[in-house]
Amino acid sequence: MQIDIFDSPDILAQLTARKIIDMVSRKPNALLCLAGGETPRLTYQYIVEGAKNNGIDFSLVQFVSLDEWVGIPASNKGSCYYFLHETIFEPLAIKQTNIHFFNSTAGNLSAECERINQIIQNLGGIDLMLVGIGMNGHIGFNEPGISPYLFAHVIELDIITQQVGQKYFSEITPLQKGISLGMAQFMQSGMVILLATGNKKAPIIKKALEENVSAAVPAGFIQEHTNAFVLLDSEAAGLLS
Ligand code: GLP
Repeated sequence: MQIDIFDSPDILAQLTARKIIDMVSRKPNALLCLAGGETPRLTYQYIVEGAKNNGIDFSLVQFVSLDEWVGIPASNKGSCYYFLHETIFEPLAIKQTNIHFFNSTAGNLSAECERINQIIQNLGGIDLMLVGIGMNGHIGFNEPGISPYLFAHVIELDIITQQVGQKYFSEITPLQKGISLGMAQFMQSGMVILLATGNKKAPIIKKALEENVSAAVPAGFIQEHTNAFVLLDSEAAGLLS
């Protein structure tokens, strides 16, 4: 695991965007899994800019969902899909056939998990997963206590996630369950990048990176990944020894 600390979220975003563009340059049909959430917003802006300015072709890149709020349709501005649609898919004109997202309003969510697991397998596995970290240490919706061996699954959301998640919605929204790729898929990804910015992430970053690896802080499993990058701004890194 390599930890890099940047003076500002802007420099962090530029460097992260470059890593993703490099991946696409090396492997034009890469399978990417990009998180929603506020942290990577600027990175996505730089990916779009970088792709356009340097003529990087994203037409063969495949995208798979990291997570979604159960029962929230893709058309809801607070959904993970909507966020990625606005920040990446639409600006880069990604074809719908190259986007593989959880349908969190499906009647049979176990079948939905199986469908996404199968797509990942058929596409040869995830080449690069870019994730944020929840205030409770989650990755995707792998909440504290989760088994590291799980693939896609439906999960009852931690109370912290239910509360913090309100920030994505314009009105109070019940967020009891999530559908998410599992830690097994995180650990099997060819490369993983964990981003964190701001003072509020400093305590959980310290736990994830400096405490013994355990399911209590799922993001801590990144310590055991063999091709992992943790990219932090100086605020998020502020409590590291
Ligand atoms: C959310 C999402 C994650 C995201 C994380 C951090 O609940 N499920 O995919 O990475 O929490 O979000 P943010 O970047 O807004 O802090």
